[in-house]
Amino acid sequence: MKITKVDLAHIAVKPEQYPKTFLPEIALAGRSNVGKSSFINKMINRKSLARTSGQPGKTQTLNFYEINEKVHFVDVPGYGFAKVAKSVRDQWGKMIEQFLTEREQLKAVVLLIDSRHKPSADDKLMYDWLIHFEMPVIIVATKCDKIAKSKWQKHVNVIKEELGKREEDELILFSSETGYGRETAWRVIQRYI
Ligand code: GTP
Ligand code: MG
Repeated sequence: MKITKVDLAHIAVKPEQYPKTFLPEIALAGRSNVGKSSFINKMINRKSLARTSGQPGKTQTLNFYEINEKVHFVDVPGYGFAKVAKSVRDQWGKMIEQFLTEREQLKAVVLLIDSRHKPSADDKLMYDWLIHFEMPVIIVATKCDKIAKSKWQKHVNVIKEELGKREEDELILFSSETGYGRETAWRVIQRYI
């Protein structure tokens, strides 16, 4: 996918602030620090349009990135980060749930899982919850540059099994460091937009 134009189009914490356009949207979900913002940057070939951090809890709002006037990627706060006050986590939870369940032009959710580890209980809850709402899910296993290539298939199998992956959901190995998986991810996302 050739990227010709990107903008941080909107920042929202409530529905009134969502973009008024009807562009299809793809949301990024996953635990804090898994690499959601880095995924966006790699997909759009920008070093740091989406703010990233070694500290979990960086993304705190719904951030809509408009790409080629064709699609919005929506960066979402991560889950499973205990250091954020419970009241704030509850607020984020409500904001995310409302967006994921009510947004009409949301076409699919990219669920990011750290390829190095077994999916966490929160990862499984999120996947089951998305299935419950009949949301198409694209599973992206991040940070594959951190594991030896000879072990990739094993890690992929563990993620598939632990999540109970549906046949129709794709699982893509990805690295924001090397760009591995970028073309595949675009090809899959394009099916939904
Ligand atoms: P929150 O906004 O806190 O929910 O985190 P996030 O999921 O947006 O993670 P972010 O993109 O900020 O990345 C977290 C850390 O992981 C940063 O230090 C990134 O540089 C690093 N990282 C992300 N993706 C990769 C990857 O594919 N490979 C490697 N080696 N590091 C990565
Ligand atoms: Mg982030």
